[in-house]
Amino acid sequence: MTPLLGSASYPFYFASNKIELVTNMSVKHFLTLLDLPSSDVNAIVARAIALKKNPESAKSQSRKSLGLIFEKASTRTRVAFEVAMTQMDGASLFLTTGDSQLGRGEPIEDSARVLSRMVDCLAIRTFSHSTLKRFAEFSQVPVINALSDDFHPCQLLAEMQTFIEHRGSISGKRVAWIGDGNNMCNSYINAAQVFDFELQIASPNGFEPNPELVAANNSRVTLSSDPRQAVSDVDLVVTDVWASMGQEAEQAARAEAFAAYEVTGEIMSLANSDALFMHCLPAHRGEEVSATVLDSPDSVVWDEAENRMHTQKALLEFLLD
Ligand code: CP
Ligand code: NVA
Repeated sequence: MTPLLGSASYPFYFASNKIELVTNMSVKHFLTLLDLPSSDVNAIVARAIALKKNPESAKSQSRKSLGLIFEKASTRTRVAFEVAMTQMDGASLFLTTGDSQLGRGEPIEDSARVLSRMVDCLAIRTFSHSTLKRFAEFSQVPVINALSDDFHPCQLLAEMQTFIEHRGSISGKRVAWIGDGNNMCNSYINAAQVFDFELQIASPNGFEPNPELVAANNSRVTLSSDPRQAVSDVDLVVTDVWASMGQEAEQAARAEAFAAYEVTGEIMSLANSDALFMHCLPAHRGEEVSATVLDSPDSVVWDEAENRMHTQKALLEFLLD
């Protein structure tokens, strides 16, 4: 996909010489799970569960608009946002390279100021997390992280909803993350804090999650390079692709480094007998997860995908209120 907010040919431009800061501290953003009080994040998930049971109870967002700025491909996140807005009688607009000036180097500060005077909320999928932070700093309306290189908080809302629906509260439970220390893994570390669970991460050397995040959560997060050790006694096993968007050129090298990290039936058998399997999708059967596990009764990936819509609807209701 052609970069929207910046590329080698159109490097993303910060108008850094401008001193005029228009940060609106009262606007709530959702760039990571830690941006809102834990009680609010838990309430958003509870609301998503209620909305799924009773979609008619969603608050009308008539005359409200959500701007979607996506610099990377998406199926679930985009569709979930668009359908959520449609079901609440609001509108959404999807900006692509061809129809916005962002791809031609308009400074992020200027774009944020202009767009946030017209729409009521913005969801942005981009590469650098600092781009997102900069955009939020200059936006008059809530900005949602629809995935950055560092975090994917919307996905975690859906995964927490899914666990609660199948097994009840996740508080005090144990979760294994197997594979890359990527945006999803970093988000799981934040989720461990917000939803009060223990996280056992197994990543190959050189592919660990953000060390500061791990250190800040060392009372509930452990890190090893042994997937068998990580899945011991867990209630949930989670993995993700070995090469994230933007890392396509590293695919072959990563496939070699991660070869021992496929979540197979044998790995799942080392977890608790009622352990669930989750994957944010899209998945590669036979790479990070075997087809047997992905398509097994332990796998709740399709509920997870559906819950993207319910949680994003609850998030929009919360931020647009
Ligand atoms: N899981 C997820 O974010 O999917 P998409 O890339 O399809 O939005
Ligand atoms: N880690 C993956 C998640 C995709 C939803 C990526 O960033 O590509």
